[in-house]
Amino acid sequence: MVEKTDTGSWALRDLAVIWHPYTQALTAPPPIPIVRGEGAYLYGASGEAYLDAISSWWVNLHGHTHPMIARAIADQAKTLEHVLFGGCTHPQAILFAERLLALLPGYSKVFYSDNGSTAIEIALKMVFQTSDKGLLSFEGAYHGDTFGAMAAVGKTHFNRPFWPYLFPVDSIPPPEPGCEEASWAAFEKALQSDRIGAFIFEPLIQGSGGMRLHSGEVLARMIHACRERGILTIADEVMTAFGRTGPLFACSRLGIWPDLLCLSKGITGGFLPLGATVVKESIFNAFLSPDPARALLHGHSYMANPLACAAANANLDLLLRPECEEARQRIERSHQRAKSKWAGHPKLRRVDVLGTIFALEYRVEDASYFNPLKRRLADLFLQRGILVRPLGNVLYLLPPYCIQDDELERIYAVIQETLN
Ligand SMILES: Cc1ncc(COP(=O)(O)O)c(C=O)c1O
Repeated sequence: MVEKTDTGSWALRDLAVIWHPYTQALTAPPPIPIVRGEGAYLYGASGEAYLDAISSWWVNLHGHTHPMIARAIADQAKTLEHVLFGGCTHPQAILFAERLLALLPGYSKVFYSDNGSTAIEIALKMVFQTSDKGLLSFEGAYHGDTFGAMAAVGKTHFNRPFWPYLFPVDSIPPPEPGCEEASWAAFEKALQSDRIGAFIFEPLIQGSGGMRLHSGEVLARMIHACRERGILTIADEVMTAFGRTGPLFACSRLGIWPDLLCLSKGITGGFLPLGATVVKESIFNAFLSPDPARALLHGHSYMANPLACAAANANLDLLLRPECEEARQRIERSHQRAKSKWAGHPKLRRVDVLGTIFALEYRVEDASYFNPLKRRLADLFLQRGILVRPLGNVLYLLPPYCIQDDELERIYAVIQETLN
């Protein structure tokens, strides 16, 4: 039983025993203790409310503690909490895989894991075990923090301490507005090298790289070109899937489905960790052999955990309701109205909207993840009771789909304050 303690005491106790991610402990403010969540809000120990404008690192889709998902997990916990997935299976994992494949044309197998980075690692192993060629990726991408996922993006300021340990990749600029031709030219040149066995990308928008949009048309041409040359394509939909960009999957906007699809984050509606690497039949078949050593020798203790799969099934029930699609469209309309108000503003380099994602880049001299503006912005929003986590000078909103128009207006009003 967690005893009642005020917000300040929790923060001090945390600092004594916990090492937090992406945090320079010497200079960072103490963490915000959260003891409860409901709908679009998180609550501190003393009852203070924070509007979660970023869905708690983009995972929460329908609001915190949604009763349908909570009930599905509780029911499952009374039936089967966990079973190893090597040599065993269970109904929730089978049901979710069947439902996922019914939504994804041309795919035939789901390989489960337990987070976005592992979904990527698995895709990379699937590719590298069957090809001795290298990887092509977009500059500015982010695919996770494990070694393969780090290597996939090339050498960046994020992974600098690990450069000597990362395998080499070819990186090309993404087809961002105004750079489509340069991106295509770099793509063609990379393919001519005959070094490329697979191409990995975040479809339509690079998330951690600064919520940067690129052309779906050019990306689709790249996927077609890869297919013609037998190069495998891997879509990292860890952020974009489950309605974030409007439709259930960002790839459905491309008109062509890549060979491998990596999923996580919103997959359980933000309740429990789960990852999935979804593949076409040909990928699966390449591992079939009388030799047991040619199987994909990869697994995780908690992969396909029954509680997580039960959450994923309940999450999908909610996602497939027409009200959910309407909510996503309403959020997009609201973002578009805000965008039209600020487009061309002298203090802004860009304002972008893609589905439920809203991104705004402030004009600064050193445009990077480490720009101190992020702290000032986060502090101001926090004072107004709103939780955001800017990427350097890029402020973004990725709200849960249950957020209401007046709550979005509250957030836009603070953005306006930053511009005044
Ligand atoms: C596009 C993308 N891929 C992979 C990951 C890694 O996911 P996880 O943090 O669950 O390991 C992230 C996380 O932000 C992501 O945005």
